[in-house]
Amino acid sequence: MTDSLHVSGLSTTLIADLKGRATAIAESSYSPYSKFRVGAAILLEAPGQPEPVIVTGCNVENSSFRLTTCAEQSAIATAVGLYGPEIQILAVAVANLNNAASMPCGACRQTILEFSNPETTWIFYPVEQGATAEATLAALLPAAFRLHQS
Ligand code: THU
Repeated sequence: MTDSLHVSGLSTTLIADLKGRATAIAESSYSPYSKFRVGAAILLEAPGQPEPVIVTGCNVENSSFRLTTCAEQSAIATAVGLYGPEIQILAVAVANLNNAASMPCGACRQTILEFSNPETTWIFYPVEQGATAEATLAALLPAAFRLHQS
């Protein structure tokens, strides 16, 4: 398989691996209400790790619907638990087992922002007919909320 560099600086092989892992973890989804099985794989830098690492998560629903955790948030919570608060997200791949388009929701974009440089963090997400779209977080979340305290 030929490898080339994506505009993000990541290799196309690595991006394909992220997508594959997002799809694989979606098998673990707990989604009895929506039946929408989502997985996310995040590539991140962490203190003490010589190379970027990948952490995955799936959506976990609740009968009190608003308590549902999205796949992206699940992955980020796991990553912070594993590697601490200094993680830097380089890329996020989202997948679902429903052959549907699914962009990260607004809340997930804000959660990704917390651990990202929005200009250089890339998001890969499924669109129609099995294709994948890509965008920086800055493009997906313009005018993001930032907490400014005096
Ligand atoms: N979902 C995610 O896991 N990530 C998103 O970015 C959007 C939505 C989940 C939440 C819920 O379990 C299901 O998809 C349907 O909304």
